[in-house]
Amino acid sequence: MSISTKMNEFAKASSWIRKMFEEGAQLKKQFGAENVFDFSLGNPDLPPPPQFNETIRRLARDESPGMHSYMPNGGYPHVRAAVASQISKEQNMPVTADEMLMTCGAAGALNVVLKAILNQDEEVIILAPFFVEYKFYVDNQGGKTVVVQTLDDFNLDLAAIEEAINEKTKAIIINSPNNPTGQIYPEEDMSALGKLLDKCQEKLGSTIFLLSDEPYRKIIFENYQVPSIFRQFNNSIVVSSYSKDLSLPGERIGYIAVHPEIADKSQLLGAMTLANRILGFVNAPALMQRVVAELQGLTVDTTIYARRRETFCNILTKAGFDFIPPKGAFYIFPKTPIEDDVAFVAHLQKQKILAVPGRGFGMPGYIRMAFCVEDDVIARSEKAFMQAMAEL
Ligand SMILES: Cc1ncc(COP(=O)(O)O)c(C=O)c1O
Repeated sequence: MSISTKMNEFAKASSWIRKMFEEGAQLKKQFGAENVFDFSLGNPDLPPPPQFNETIRRLARDESPGMHSYMPNGGYPHVRAAVASQISKEQNMPVTADEMLMTCGAAGALNVVLKAILNQDEEVIILAPFFVEYKFYVDNQGGKTVVVQTLDDFNLDLAAIEEAINEKTKAIIINSPNNPTGQIYPEEDMSALGKLLDKCQEKLGSTIFLLSDEPYRKIIFENYQVPSIFRQFNNSIVVSSYSKDLSLPGERIGYIAVHPEIADKSQLLGAMTLANRILGFVNAPALMQRVVAELQGLTVDTTIYARRRETFCNILTKAGFDFIPPKGAFYIFPKTPIEDDVAFVAHLQKQKILAVPGRGFGMPGYIRMAFCVEDDVIARSEKAFMQAMAEL
């Protein structure tokens, strides 16, 4: 075997995901893509806002020298200033260009932060159900993940988090609005988490970073709000991107912002800047940095996601699913009516419905479905869901 033992194991562990995609592709080939209800992918289908096309065209025409050169590893100063100004509004606290850096998406941002903070075998708490890549990112940077379950409503289980914290704990990752549940942690919970982390840091005499992964911050429904994490805890770091709110996942553009009073601030920012370089990202894409600097505060038309969410929730209710309507993001995470989520996903495939088993997110007994698909696909899936449930 010429590939590493670890990568071989990772590949095996995620082979059922590949199998599922292959089966989905097979169904599409056999019945036509329009006859398959594919809710398996979190790949936003909405176009970026029209200002994106206008801005990228205009900026691409700029032939001034240096437009495509290397720049400081943390990104163009003017871009960081523009992004910092938007982060200040979202976090309800002034954040400067020197307290953030531009990255290759939230994925790049997470790897950069973890590389900057983790010593070998230090622990990072993640909350189940979780975005599956967290495990890989923590491993990439030499850490160990510790999984803590959330409550039945997918809210924070503070007692369980407290129990998991020990002298090896270096960070906890939260993701709100959440992939896969759509949960948004309310302000009271964020405040309680901040207090808990303060208490644990004091007791252990160590620093515990709170990493808030927020790429879905602007995709929210009804009157839900995403509270500021900076207001709750000093050692907090926000990572985010424009993959979801501007529908630019292929462009690999995101950022990191640190709390203005975070521990060892200048060393941390220096380490993250170096990590951006030596992880091989070097810097976030130049053109895309210049584009997003001009699009701060804009989003895709989130009323479309809101409309699809309503249709999808109505269909699932009618079909008899047990689920909590998502407060944000574009996923629904219902309980499976039979215990085995993988078997239930296979059952849904008979009706040409593609979903992802909850165990892929560390929570068997559930499925994740993404509604970043056309309205019509959701509407036409009703019969298939009714049939699948009737056949159980
Ligand atoms: C919770 C969460 N975090 C991070 C990412 C990575 O996003 P990006 O494309 O910005 O790297 C995703 C992508 O699906 C996600 O769902």
